[in-house]
Amino acid sequence: MKFFIDTANLEEIKKAADYGFLDGVTTNPTLMAKEGLSNQTERIQAICALTSGPVSAEVLAVEPQAMLKEARILASLAPNVAIKLPLTLEALKIAKILAEEGTSVNLTLVFSALQALLAAKVGAAFVSPFVGRLDDIGVDGLSVVEEIQTIYANYGYETEIIVASVRNSQHVLKAALIGADICTIPFAVISQLASHPLTQNGLSAFLADQAKLKKA
Ligand code: E4P
Repeated sequence: MKFFIDTANLEEIKKAADYGFLDGVTTNPTLMAKEGLSNQTERIQAICALTSGPVSAEVLAVEPQAMLKEARILASLAPNVAIKLPLTLEALKIAKILAEEGTSVNLTLVFSALQALLAAKVGAAFVSPFVGRLDDIGVDGLSVVEEIQTIYANYGYETEIIVASVRNSQHVLKAALIGADICTIPFAVISQLASHPLTQNGLSAFLADQAKLKKA
């Protein structure tokens, strides 16, 4: 299972890379705004320099031709940029053009397996179902991911599923149990993955006993 980090914060990306399990990065306009950035170009380039994995950069334009133009500019920033487009009918057309040009496309804001089927049909490299936001409205987000997996397996689609809108370690666990390709995880949740109270208690006890050994 690949781990992407869901952030536009360079320090968080560096730390995750240092841990040794960073396979890519996803950003979105909200994450960019959180960093106080008005223009994402330089930040995308800086992120791409920190990882060789895919870095999703979201297109902000809404009109189709403007979307295509912006997507091509973003794709030219670095070889590992993946173009993030919202799953709308207009954006699907743009996604198909970009995919045919050899650009990796990540269709985002996906909330149903049928939307994900369309993403695969236009040749998107990635599809991002938002599990946390589905949970928020009383739908089991991971069950939608399971449906997508079944449909992709039925037809041999190669679009990779990025489990997105991850809120806690249980989302990561369940995504791994159902065999999702990728989880994009906020830094706070990445940090939680290694922690267990019994690990901490055990370590404290071992350290205390080690101190006794030294004295002996
Ligand atoms: C990632 O691609 C998404 O933009 C992100 O996971 C959305 O997360 P949120 O629902 O917590 O905003």
